[in-house]
Amino acid sequence: MARAIVSAMAHQTWRRDDGFEISTDPARVDLDLTHRFLSRDSYWATGLPSDVLERSIKGSVVFGIYRGSKQVGFARVVTDKATFGWIGDVFVVPEVRGRRLGKWLMECIIGHPELQGFRRWMLATRDAHGLYEKFGFTPLHSPDRFMERWDREVYSSRSD
Ligand SMILES: CC(C)(COP(=O)(O)OP(=O)(O)OC[C@H]1O[C@@H](n2cnc3c(N)ncnc32)[C@H](O)[C@@H]1OP(=O)(O)O)[C@@H](O)C(=O)NCCC(=O)NCCS
Repeated sequence: MARAIVSAMAHQTWRRDDGFEISTDPARVDLDLTHRFLSRDSYWATGLPSDVLERSIKGSVVFGIYRGSKQVGFARVVTDKATFGWIGDVFVVPEVRGRRLGKWLMECIIGHPELQGFRRWMLATRDAHGLYEKFGFTPLHSPDRFMERWDREVYSSRSD
């Protein structure tokens, strides 16, 4: 039986004339497709275990892009819903890239009614700066004030 994540939050849905839909309902997320992309095809989450993905979805506001029942994109926001949001795990499947879905996904994230008035949004990207610049993202104003604790081997060093 297909796994699904259930949440009590009110879900938002946006629809486009060409049949694409964005939903924040975590129960609609295709865990297999999302896990396959992130663990195998992304450069930032290689080896992501499926139980970690499921926990990350439970702890985030998730945005899935759908055409009918088929998921074609994903992003999630880690947030306190008051002051701060971290946008991560953004992807659109290769078959439908270049159709404004990435930009629409960002519009929906930034416009989400429960994610307003933040002091700071953050994200990390290797090469999609041009996408996020369209939504007001800039390089860090004061990089000297930020620190990170980054475990590059976190998934490859798991023993199970
Ligand atoms: C990045 C990604 C989500 C964009 O999705 P998409 O639906 O193809 O993007 P859109 O059609 O909405 O267009 C994206 C816009 O950002 C720009 N852009 C800047 N850097 C980009 C990049 N690295 N990849 C794609 N678009 C990029 C494009 O030129 C385009 O702007 P334009 O319309 O002014 O030309 C998609 O290419 C993807 O999933 N890539 C692989 C995973 C990834 O890199 N995710 C981002 C991690 S931070």
